[in-house]
Amino acid sequence: MYNETNLDKIEVNAEPPIEEPARQYYFMAKCREWVREFERINGRRPSFFTQTFGCQMNARDSEKLSGILETVGYQNTESEQADFVIYNTCTVRDNANQRVYGRLGVLNRYKKSNPQMKVALCGCMMQEPTIIEKLKKSYPFIDLIFGTHNIYKFAELLYTSFETEGMLIDIWEDTDKIVEDLPVERKYPFKSGINIMFGCNNFCSYCIVPYVRGRERSREPREIIREIERLVADGVVEVMLLGQNVNSYGKNLDEPITFAQLLQEVEKIEGLQRIRFMTSHPKDLSDDLIAVMKQSKKICRHLHLPLQSGSTRILQQMNRRYTREQYIELADRIRREIPDIAITTDIIVGFPGETPEDLEETIDMVRRVKYDNAFTFIYSKRTGTPAAAMENQVPKEQVKEGFDRLLKVVQDTAREQIAKYQGQVMEALIEEAMEEKHSAEEKHSMEERHSMEERHSMEERHSPENNVTMVTGRLSNNTIVHLPGDASLIGKIVPVSLDECHGFYYIGHICR
Ligand code: SAH
Ligand code: SF4
Ligand code: F3S
Repeated sequence: MYNETNLDKIEVNAEPPIEEPARQYYFMAKCREWVREFERINGRRPSFFTQTFGCQMNARDSEKLSGILETVGYQNTESEQADFVIYNTCTVRDNANQRVYGRLGVLNRYKKSNPQMKVALCGCMMQEPTIIEKLKKSYPFIDLIFGTHNIYKFAELLYTSFETEGMLIDIWEDTDKIVEDLPVERKYPFKSGINIMFGCNNFCSYCIVPYVRGRERSREPREIIREIERLVADGVVEVMLLGQNVNSYGKNLDEPITFAQLLQEVEKIEGLQRIRFMTSHPKDLSDDLIAVMKQSKKICRHLHLPLQSGSTRILQQMNRRYTREQYIELADRIRREIPDIAITTDIIVGFPGETPEDLEETIDMVRRVKYDNAFTFIYSKRTGTPAAAMENQVPKEQVKEGFDRLLKVVQDTAREQIAKYQGQVMEALIEEAMEEKHSAEEKHSMEERHSMEERHSMEERHSPENNVTMVTGRLSNNTIVHLPGDASLIGKIVPVSLDECHGFYYIGHICR
């Protein structure tokens, strides 16, 4: 099946099939008829716009939405004034939610000037009942709302919404289902995210993800391998294996397999050149994984290992299930075994009960582990999580002061780490051409995992001088390098001399 299904062969007047994904292909065929009718009346194809607000899993989901929309005949546009606009939302921190509400106000105005326009919302925010109530009350112009568990039903929901007056809402509380073989439209031709698992069972006390993404479910290894093989045949050279905690991959499969074993299988895929993965929970990181990374030719020299806090007392309150000492020992072991690896992390400032001494311990950890980069977040109270009910919430001013202090150390450390490679020649995968208006800063934001507000790796603007066309590449250790070159290099891995270190990125040149 998989993109190759010929929608014309589907009998749209028959009853819809019960089994998946056949049912969704049936509804894609129905939607396509609707699109053809639109085209006949309007003399053009309907346009669509998707916006991702969350992490890479969210981004991958958006590619699935785009895949279905393109399959049924919609045309992608960069403009929010489209015939179909879908926001794939995130609720990990409140500022992600606020961004959605802000944009919805704008959409309402667009919709008034184009009554044909349809607005849909999906993603993690939609799994919260209080949010649905608010949307029903204050944003009645929204046409379609669905959640994270039934995203595979998008074609069916889209068709049902064509047939429905007013707001259509379909939210499931959980699911144990994984539907394979639906169309996907990739953002980049040469690299792709791959879901290896869904959901999370860890229940870190501050985090809403387990509530909105449901229980942990791993995909069958053969499905993952099959998907990557097809991607490689379609020009992909780099994959990013995605899961909230990839280190617990495969434990609940009928035939259990470890993440390290999965990586070994992925490594064998011919034509695939780079393997990344995200995210590794420190409590489950095995020696086997370190050994597999060490001997691998394809696994990138980058490990994202979220710390959250450097204080054992706070880690316990967070339900992270490792101590400061265990984390240090693990990071030392990784650096000893794989000396050229970049370690990056996530840190939360202002968790309930965090004292200035706790924060000092976190800052000390940054210096000790020498993170190559860190995403720093201000604690955001998420309704329904255990931490939200904790009484000792930290005053805002104290959090802000602590956050700034941490940020400075994170930036200094990252700069020192990155500067170590000055003058070396390393391989870079060229990802895009730098248009003049696309500064280095925007490049960083394009590949962000989370909302940007608190992210530190904002950089001074870099505008290429005098019409020299520049491209942007990424080293195995995830560092960005800008170099002279043109769009023909995109998707290629080339040796680059790292000439000038500019804080968080390099300026270099191809070195043959
Ligand atoms: N599964 C991943 C994290 C997914 S959420 C992991 O365990 O590493 C990404 C990051 O958002 C987390 O690592 C954490 O640093 C941050 N985060 C999650 N909930 C948060 C909250 N309530 N307030 C602030 N930051 C939060
Ligand atoms: Fe959230 Fe913790 Fe699960 Fe990560 S491991 S998604 S931080 S609950
Ligand atoms: Fe956000 Fe959902 Fe990802 S809450 S961080 S989009 S799993």
